[in-house]
Amino acid sequence: MMWRASVLTLFPEMFPGPLAHSLAGRALREGRWSLAAEDIRAHGEGRHRTVDDTPFGGGAGMVMRPDVVDRAIAAAVPEGDPRPLIYLTPRGRLLDQALVRELAAGPGVVLLCGRYEGVDQRVIEARAMREVSIGDYVLSGGEVAALVLLDACVRLLPGVMGAAESAEEESHAAGLLEYPHYTRPAEWQGRAVPPVLLSGHHAEVARWRREQAEAATRERRPDLWNRPRFGTRMDAGCGPA
Ligand code: ADE
Repeated sequence: MMWRASVLTLFPEMFPGPLAHSLAGRALREGRWSLAAEDIRAHGEGRHRTVDDTPFGGGAGMVMRPDVVDRAIAAAVPEGDPRPLIYLTPRGRLLDQALVRELAAGPGVVLLCGRYEGVDQRVIEARAMREVSIGDYVLSGGEVAALVLLDACVRLLPGVMGAAESAEEESHAAGLLEYPHYTRPAEWQGRAVPPVLLSGHHAEVARWRREQAEAATRERRPDLWNRPRFGTRMDAGCGPA
């Protein structure tokens, strides 16, 4: 069964966009996943295909109408479709690698991209949407967030990732940032590569990389470092108490 993505958007021309390139693009052409963009405007009201209106209670901006969004969903998603319906919004739960893995392991996703101030709350509830944010900043719409979510999921699908990407994913799954990387030349602008990497001692290289990964995580991401985890440094007895 192919992993299927449907995107509901006012800007269907933004898809597949960057996902036509690199790993995701090759996987799309190989039929490892599919992508369908549904134009919300096609389900707008009246001759002008209106999709939004002013907010009840006043305030700035426009809100997407629940009836229009509901029709777009009905058109894109057959009844009984097992895929989760996800609304991209800064109000959502933060996307992390655990959620990415959960979504990649399922049948696919239906993504609703909001524009304007947002989507009427009633259709979010009536359709039992999962609300997801890609970070604590505000984008001008959900489209770029949808592209981020899709890229992160697609690279985990069977046969998509190469060995290098797999190792990176394992590092992040273990709750650590990656160690730094070096390649030729061995000296560049007076900067030498750390000598241990040229030593040929595989065990020492592995130990140095582990230390670098831990130091970077401790210094840059105390939130990750202090999160309890199994099978990593906690068991090695060198993590926080
Ligand atoms: N739409 C606008 N900002 C967003 C964000 N940070 N995450 C997901 N969707 C968004």
